[in-house]
Amino acid sequence: MKSLAERLCRGDNISDVELISLINGKDEEELIHLSDKVRRSYYGDKVFIRGLIEISSYCKNDCLYCGIRASNKEASRYRLTAEEIIACVKKGAELGFSTFVLQGGEDPYFTDLRICKIVEKIKEAAPDAAVTLSLGEKSRNAYKMYFDAGACRYLLRHETADLEHYRKLHPDSMSLENRKRCLFDLKEIGYQVGSGFMVGSPYQTIENLLEDIKFLKELDPAMIGIGPFVPHKDTPFGEFSQGSVELTVRMIAILRLIFPKALIPATTALGTLSPDGREKGLMAGANVVMPNLSPVMVRKKYNLYDNKLATGAESAEGLRLLEDKIRNAGYVMSMERGDSLAV
Ligand code: 5AD
Repeated sequence: MKSLAERLCRGDNISDVELISLINGKDEEELIHLSDKVRRSYYGDKVFIRGLIEISSYCKNDCLYCGIRASNKEASRYRLTAEEIIACVKKGAELGFSTFVLQGGEDPYFTDLRICKIVEKIKEAAPDAAVTLSLGEKSRNAYKMYFDAGACRYLLRHETADLEHYRKLHPDSMSLENRKRCLFDLKEIGYQVGSGFMVGSPYQTIENLLEDIKFLKELDPAMIGIGPFVPHKDTPFGEFSQGSVELTVRMIAILRLIFPKALIPATTALGTLSPDGREKGLMAGANVVMPNLSPVMVRKKYNLYDNKLATGAESAEGLRLLEDKIRNAGYVMSMERGDSLAV
């Protein structure tokens, strides 16, 4: 009789009840062992490095969990100029980075035209680098414009695939339907698309996690980013408890087995909640780390949640430190573009 983890690994259909038992920790050791094996068989021991540039902490949205939500009056806001962004890219290129991720709140200052110009300038400064955008919900036309300007990857977590849960985490002005529309538009246009969700967000049930997995199967993304929920004191969810590192790690392992070709980051949130969170993520099948390349002066301001890491191994300056940590976990840091095999 094959174990559950093994059946999942072989691509057998397992029932919801069985999946729930894996999520709850059944066969954990084997699950982690197999996820590492599967990751190695597709991606070897490489951990791809992405330079994260947080371009704006202004946001017109009001997601209840997020520290840069529009109604957080305590947040100190900044936005980078095009010149500052290009300076970050040049610094990153010198350090050897070949993927740049532009992430920001939904800031109307960054019009579609401005975004296109910035993407074009990045491609001039670093022609072989991959430009990843993570700038939220836009029109299909806007996504197409960015793509034509040279962006080739887009990160947009669905956050939760359950309609009721989605409504509890977001204001009425936002909808799961539009989120999904964005993700499918991005895919059709030709982006390598990343989606994902928070683990342990307020009101989340284990059935919600099943919904998340189902939705991801439907989307079949090139990248999957998940991280534990971390409360931010100046949000309505400030008093909720944080997500579990262990559950997040198990979810990474399960996702690795279901999506063997996906790129999966060991996220900053995971590293924030536990000193060896990132390593645990890597050992459970994650194969991407995104150190912070934003100007040091603004890093503290991109405060999505309390105590968010932005220095040490979490920063571009700490690259050697990160390399050591990755090696100690049993892997090799790679500065290659690292395109997803899942496209
Ligand atoms: N805890 C953990 N992750 C968060 N994000 C936003 N706020 C929080 C929080 N409080 C995540 C969201 C978003 C990504 C950029 O950061 O999932 O998609």
